[in-house]
Amino acid sequence: MGASSNWSWHAALLCLLSIGAEVLCDCTDRGIQIEGGNFTLTKELKKGSLLIYSCNEGYYPYPHLNRICQENGSWKPAPKRFPPQRCKVVECPDPNVLENGNVSPPEVQYVVGNETSYDCYPGYTLRGSSKRICLPNGKWSGSTPICSRDSGAACPDPGVPPGASRAGNMFEIDDKVIYTCNSGLFLVGSKERVCLENGQWTGTEPACYYKHTFDTPQEVAESFGGAIKGTLTITQSLNDTQEGRYIRISKSGTLNIYIGVDISESIGKDDFEKARDAVVTLIKKIASFSVSPNYDIVFFSSEVYRVVNILDFFSANVELNKVIEDLETFKIENKNTGTDLNLVFKSFENQMAYIKQRAGEEGFKAHRHVLILFTDGAYNMGGSPEPAVARIKNMVYMNHTVENHVGTRDDFLDIYIFAIGSDIFDDDLQPLTVGTGGRHYFRLLKNEELQETFDSIIDESEVVGMCGLHMDYEREESRESQRKRYPWWAFVTVQVAGRISENCLGSLVSPDFVLTAAHCFASVGSLQDIVVEIDNGRGSLSKY
Ligand SMILES: *[C@@H]1O[C@H](CO)[C@@H](O)[C@H](O)[C@H]1NC(C)=O
Ligand SMILES: *[C@@H]1O[C@H](CO)[C@@H](O)[C@H](O)[C@H]1NC(C)=O
Ligand SMILES: *[C@@H]1O[C@H](CO)[C@@H](O)[C@H](O)[C@H]1NC(C)=O
Ligand SMILES: *[C@@H]1O[C@H](CO)[C@@H](O)[C@H](O)[C@H]1NC(C)=O
Ligand SMILES: *[C@@H]1O[C@H](CO)[C@@H](O)[C@H](O)[C@H]1NC(C)=O
Repeated sequence: MGASSNWSWHAALLCLLSIGAEVLCDCTDRGIQIEGGNFTLTKELKKGSLLIYSCNEGYYPYPHLNRICQENGSWKPAPKRFPPQRCKVVECPDPNVLENGNVSPPEVQYVVGNETSYDCYPGYTLRGSSKRICLPNGKWSGSTPICSRDSGAACPDPGVPPGASRAGNMFEIDDKVIYTCNSGLFLVGSKERVCLENGQWTGTEPACYYKHTFDTPQEVAESFGGAIKGTLTITQSLNDTQEGRYIRISKSGTLNIYIGVDISESIGKDDFEKARDAVVTLIKKIASFSVSPNYDIVFFSSEVYRVVNILDFFSANVELNKVIEDLETFKIENKNTGTDLNLVFKSFENQMAYIKQRAGEEGFKAHRHVLILFTDGAYNMGGSPEPAVARIKNMVYMNHTVENHVGTRDDFLDIYIFAIGSDIFDDDLQPLTVGTGGRHYFRLLKNEELQETFDSIIDESEVVGMCGLHMDYEREESRESQRKRYPWWAFVTVQVAGRISENCLGSLVSPDFVLTAAHCFASVGSLQDIVVEIDNGRGSLSKY
């Protein structure tokens, strides 16, 4: 305590002196170092600067993840000597919550690298992982172990995830289970689950997270990819040809996607371009599903900067390329500080209201809406966005409430939140997510993980029979990287009397046809003169 007031005193004194001399009221670097780690400052030691701590993998900054330089030149929270700022080893939530089985070894605390094994009492069988390892992102590997016996109940035992406790031990239709997390942890996923007639539980399995628990890009890709695929609703025939693909969305209505990216000070400065590139990647990935949604894309701080206006899609013919171009050339000068998340939701609400007006009550029923937000949730202006979210739900659900799980319109609205940053306001953000078919809330450690996430939301093995998938993460223009980016390219070479007479490019347009230019074949004598090379999907070329 003594130490801390000492620091503040120093800062205050410096500030007073500065004001007298009309110099900026800066923070000092005294006491802000971290043992075993590093820190970055968004605006050096100037007021409003955000100090962000970083540690090696498997460690997290403790007791604070970051500090902010206040107007009067003091850090919040103020640096203290005890406990010192250091990198602490990552813990995983308590696995000793298994019912009807044993956890070994029984410990009070488990840290990165610790292994646990699970076995069930006689008469019970194990579902889930029998061995788990505490991972550097603060999660256990594998899946929740569950010991259950066949009781003939309608739904399977939903288990208890690490760090949680469950109320409700009846698994018949309409029975409810409620989860809570131990202190120091918060719940991500469904707090309540209800057993449905089809023998499944509503929602998704909850998990207990520490502030230092993060989702890996692979986890997010899998989970978000699964959910967004559900929305883009592709059902592929087993034969897997492009003709066999059938897209419900184009038959049953319009898909509107609203994307909001937080560019306020609360997320580091250079992150803007990374976030923008990630959005471009996401849009291209969605396009590879052969759906053409309407987009509304904004960047926001205390103001909303609209890059792509969804209303243009209704009044003009907007091409995807134009959207991408607009995004890529978008620059912000003199952006305002502060974050107004409420304004973003209100702005999406307004866009929806316009669309509803245009489409009419009946027409609007066929519109699906997907909101995707990237933020750390530190809104300091405009108040809570919850009322705006409630109004959006009301508008889309059209008074069909979600309560009894039947005849609802809840698959017409999804709100996904990608929480990114060193200090995420989970309690504010999670209640804003909406939708069925998987998780809608994700926690990522770094902005650069976004692009990786979106690049892998579509598994290439799932789209055999298509022309191939455009991959965007390799920037250098080698022939290999070009092949990755344009897998439908075919190299057409014409050799006459052992000499190459033409080098052409073609495009794979169906499983059996390549489209190319007629002039390439002016000198062709026989079929043997032509060599076509295409990507065989395994990273090398096949000759035909
Ligand atoms: C600086 O301002 C904050 C809030 O405005 C206040 O809580 C804090 O006590 C001030 N610190 C000093 C050293 O004046
Ligand atoms: C801190 O920065 C130094 C130099 O940039 C680097 O070598 C070191 O690995 C970093 N340590 C951590 C914990 O990030
Ligand atoms: C857990 O890991 C820590 C650090 O590596 C180690 O000291 C401890 O013995 C491990 N505990 C168990 C039960 O494996
Ligand atoms: C796949 O295509 C083949 C030949 O076109 C056909 O005989 C077969 O029934 C198809 N299989 C499925 C599952 O549609
Ligand atoms: C929804 O309910 C409100 C009041 O309960 C009513 O005024 C409104 O017309 C209803 N909207 C629809 C689409 O049924």
